[in-house]
Amino acid sequence: MKTRITELFGIEHPIIQGGMHFVGLAELASAVSNAGGLGILTGLTQRTPELLSKEIARCREMTNKPFGVNLTFLPSVTPPDYPGYVRAIVEGGVRNVETAGNNRQKWLPPLQDTGNKVIHKCTSVRHSLKAESIGCDAVSVDGFECGGHPGEDDIPNMILLPRAAEALKIPFVASGGMADGRSLVAALALGAEGMNMGTRFIATKEAPVHDHVKQALVAASELDTRLIMRSLRNTERVLNNDAVGRLIEKERALGAALKFEDILPEVAGVYPAIMQRGEMEAGAWSCGMVAGLIHDVPTCQELIDRIMAEAKSLIRDRLTGLL
Ligand SMILES: Cc1cc2nc3c(=O)[nH]c(=O)nc-3n(C[C@H](O)[C@H](O)[C@H](O)COP(=O)(O)O)c2cc1C
Repeated sequence: MKTRITELFGIEHPIIQGGMHFVGLAELASAVSNAGGLGILTGLTQRTPELLSKEIARCREMTNKPFGVNLTFLPSVTPPDYPGYVRAIVEGGVRNVETAGNNRQKWLPPLQDTGNKVIHKCTSVRHSLKAESIGCDAVSVDGFECGGHPGEDDIPNMILLPRAAEALKIPFVASGGMADGRSLVAALALGAEGMNMGTRFIATKEAPVHDHVKQALVAASELDTRLIMRSLRNTERVLNNDAVGRLIEKERALGAALKFEDILPEVAGVYPAIMQRGEMEAGAWSCGMVAGLIHDVPTCQELIDRIMAEAKSLIRDRLTGLL
């Protein structure tokens, strides 16, 4: 399938694996790329730019197909060494970068002047237009359904994607709630040129996370996510568990007085315990409503082949047959 997204990134299928903290390591990114999608390493999961350089080199040993790096720009008192991470990307010969958060214009020239294509993740049309105006090559439009940070507007993809299509000139992919061939065809119908998946890719054989995490996704339904940190204007969609229950209770009790420090035990530094050691009650971890559509743990090749076969048959048989 050819779209402006497959052309932009030099990939076979219009499917991107979004950056995911403690999930987007070389094993997963290379498996997605080998299957014809665009695998993405999560930059900040590597504690230093030097470690990111090593991870890029490791990924290159596992695939000769294009892959990318996610750089998430978080508001922070002591920000990560962003210039160092950008240098690691450029010197590592990466050609595709997914940015998220506050992507200030200053990061684009060092990336794009060295041949990188930049796709920025946005949760609103206005942020997508801003990304287009500063020169991003594409955007990933993340609807309210998504795992991770859906923003504060709460617009689901059924509305957000056609609105993005009305407003944008640069290509965009649909992100949030995408799982299968039906998602891909719907995304294309709504004006996107591909799709980005996070949660679905965690439940794959190659995702380098504990089996408890994969089984939790298979067991979960679409009713099992919760929104946290709304009052901090840092809303995150997570899988419900005891830690999330405690966190929501604190939010209820403290209301507008809630400070980030109040919920540190439930959110700070919990990813290694969950993703690597499978301690499922250790804290809050990002997860999309799409968990309700995850029923198995295939390889990335099986998943992507299945998505493309289903999409083609939907277009050729079901949809054409309706005419
Ligand atoms: C466990 C997990 C961790 C994530 N970490 C990041 C991250 O570090 N940076 C980022 O830009 N997006 C992150 N995301 C968001 C994904 O890249 C993607 O936009 C989102 O998962 C799409 O929604 P879906 O889960 O419904 O597919 C994360 C998502 C999950 C599920």
